[in-house]
Amino acid sequence: MDAPRFRIAAIPADGVGREVVAAGRAVLDAVELSAAGRFALAWEEFPWGSDYYAEHGAMMPEDGLTTLQGFDAIYFGAVGWPTVPDHVSLWGLRLRVCQNFDQWANIRPVNFLPGVTSPLRKADDTDLDWVVVRENSEGEYAGIGGRNLAARGRGGEVAVQSALFTEVGCERIMRLAFDLARTRARKKVSSVTKSNAQQYGMVLWDETFQRVAADYPDVETESVLVDAMSAKFVLHPEDLSVVVASNLHADILSDLGSALAGSLGLAASANLNPERRFPSMFEPVHGSAPDIAGRGVCNPIGAIGSAAMMLDHLGLHDEAKTVNRAIEATTAQGVKTRDVGGTADTAEVTEAIIANLGA
Ligand code: NAI
Ligand code: MG
Repeated sequence: MDAPRFRIAAIPADGVGREVVAAGRAVLDAVELSAAGRFALAWEEFPWGSDYYAEHGAMMPEDGLTTLQGFDAIYFGAVGWPTVPDHVSLWGLRLRVCQNFDQWANIRPVNFLPGVTSPLRKADDTDLDWVVVRENSEGEYAGIGGRNLAARGRGGEVAVQSALFTEVGCERIMRLAFDLARTRARKKVSSVTKSNAQQYGMVLWDETFQRVAADYPDVETESVLVDAMSAKFVLHPEDLSVVVASNLHADILSDLGSALAGSLGLAASANLNPERRFPSMFEPVHGSAPDIAGRGVCNPIGAIGSAAMMLDHLGLHDEAKTVNRAIEATTAQGVKTRDVGGTADTAEVTEAIIANLGA
């Protein structure tokens, strides 16, 4: 049988996105080389993002989605630059891909790495690891609403931003969370809600959770209000395994999780179309970090961990484990960027991870 060949679209986009995608590609090149022909990655890179916008008035070409459709996966950096309003750049590229490719599940592991000091004292003597499962297609980011300036005149403008919850949308992300929980040591799903204050969408969310949970009697469950869950992330993280939440809640909680693990720069994520009708997209959780972009000092671990999630998705499970082990070996050796208390630059961390692939 011929070795599988996967077509990967790289979209570094803006700021540190470019630096971390280059780092991730370097690691994957090394993994491919050491696989000695067992698989191949065929890359194509697209220069879309805020610079493209300055030239063309759009974040990506009109037929960009058609172009991407033919790929096995998308490896994404980060989008956003001070020259373009954030809602324009995010909706024009990242959300456009996520929504049109029905990438309805966003998986965000919270990884505590050896040698990285966490602000969470518990991390010193407690084994912590949990994963945030984010509903990625509707909820608070459904893009439904409007603004009405004309009716009330300047100074009196009104805006409505609605959240959309469908039973189908809630159920599929919850089933994915339960299925994921079954693969983990701690078989538990925590549902994040706000049904005390939001009596329509969040009550549908809760009722769907109870119904789905009944099909998984072997998995422990709990339902926690989002404000209490943010406290729980800090006070009782050892009680978490899989955390399923709406688009906005999970967006916020996953940043909190990665900050607790030591830095936003560590957090990996996968935007999955689980039916595989469209390519899935893998990207670090962080944004384009304009404050440190272009200096070669950003942490590449979130992007490299996302590359490992991409390998997993492509069925290259051993290779994914190899990359994750190399990341751990590297932080354990103390080769770390500034954001996690080290002195190494992006290239040094990337090279150390590559050197540790064989470890
Ligand atoms: P950000 O994630 O870019 O930065 C927040 C803080 O974390 C900054 O202090 C930054 O220096 C630090 N940081 C981020 N990534 C890092 C890394 N790899 N290594 C070390 N430190 C890192 O979020 P911010 O500042 O709110 O947004 C900047 C731009 O990024 C905006 O235009 C925003 O819309 C966009 N953004 C894009 C996302 C995406 O494409 N998925 C996600 C979040 C924000
Ligand atoms: Mg976010």
